[in-house]
Amino acid sequence: MNTRSKIATARLSLTSLFALLLTLLVLALPLSESGYAQSGGVVPGNTQGTSADSDFWREIRRGKQGTVSIPDKQAGQLIQSEGDSWRAIRNGPMVTWGGWALFGTIALLALFYAGRGRIAIESGRSGRTLERFTDFERMSHWILAVSFIVLAITGLNMLYGKYAIMPIVGDQAFSSVTALGKWLHNFLAFGFVLGLVLIFLRWVRHNIPNREDFVWLAQAGGLFTRGNHPPARKFNAGQKIVFWMVIICGVSISLSGVSLLFPFQTTMFADTSAFLNSIGFANMPTELTPMQEMHLSQLWHSVVALVFIALILAHIYIGSMGMEGAFDAMGSGQVDANWAKEHHSIWVEELERSGDLPDAKAAAQPPAE
Ligand code: HEM
Repeated sequence: MNTRSKIATARLSLTSLFALLLTLLVLALPLSESGYAQSGGVVPGNTQGTSADSDFWREIRRGKQGTVSIPDKQAGQLIQSEGDSWRAIRNGPMVTWGGWALFGTIALLALFYAGRGRIAIESGRSGRTLERFTDFERMSHWILAVSFIVLAITGLNMLYGKYAIMPIVGDQAFSSVTALGKWLHNFLAFGFVLGLVLIFLRWVRHNIPNREDFVWLAQAGGLFTRGNHPPARKFNAGQKIVFWMVIICGVSISLSGVSLLFPFQTTMFADTSAFLNSIGFANMPTELTPMQEMHLSQLWHSVVALVFIALILAHIYIGSMGMEGAFDAMGSGQVDANWAKEHHSIWVEELERSGDLPDAKAAAQPPAE
């Protein structure tokens, strides 16, 4: 081959190489573009050729969790779809039905008051008193009661304040009040648990159901009929219901509160479902994500709280303005003997039999002129 034809061959090779490089570059451009990120509706999954864009996004919308290298593994979930359901239930039926339950309870109590009036001590005050609760019992009750009332008010503010208070006081003031309320709510929860434990230990033995409770319930405690006082021991059947509801709701609300106080640390709903399944209940879900646990805890905590508040409204009514002489039991600890005989006749008889009734003994002597 002469020099001229050698140069021509070399030019041809260079041209071919250049053409080849250009072709590769043109082919590589769309590949590298799709490899970086979504562009114009094209998602990275497409490059694999195994899934359609719609499948890819559907999975994300359904809350599928991917993998991430940072410590917070939940960041691998781009959309928590169940959060939508949680918000819809919380801001929809729950606050609506809860509100109606509270208004309904207040309306029923007002109706009861209008029809029955204040339940009087029918035989009048005797002037003699009996010790109903010791200082320690009253202290335990008030630790429970005061913490509960603050928890109830601050909790209701979290559910309803946005609708009922914020439009009146403005968002700045509402935000400060709610932040303080949230702080009180977190810390007074411990006082509530303390009060709950104390009253449980102190009163559980008086709250075991017995025969007289059926009689008391059959006559609705004489609450609707004047002159009717079914016999009762230290606590009547109505009070026993209040006691056990306070314990059950109190424990339940405290446990779900722990789950809210220490987010993503507990698996109480999955555990409860597994337990219920094991004793033959329906097929409850046991595979719950930490986020689902939080949603369920929040809903459960609020629903139990609303039922609890409705119950306590009735309790506060009957323990104060609804019944003459009742508040003294938790005020001074001393109740009028006639009140005690009308509402807790067996308890008074027991005290008399045990000789633990100094005032009654004194009354047996004719008063000195
Ligand atoms: C201002 C609020 C409250 C008042 C005026 C009040 C009043 C009373 C009174 C007078 C008694 C004694 C009844 C008797 O002599 O037999 C009592 C008992 C009791 N209280 Fe309260 N209370 C209040 C709040 C609460 C709260 C918030 C709770 C629980 C969260 C509670 C739980 C109980 C329990 C479990 C008993 C014993 C069972 C019963 O008598 O029903 N109280 N209360």
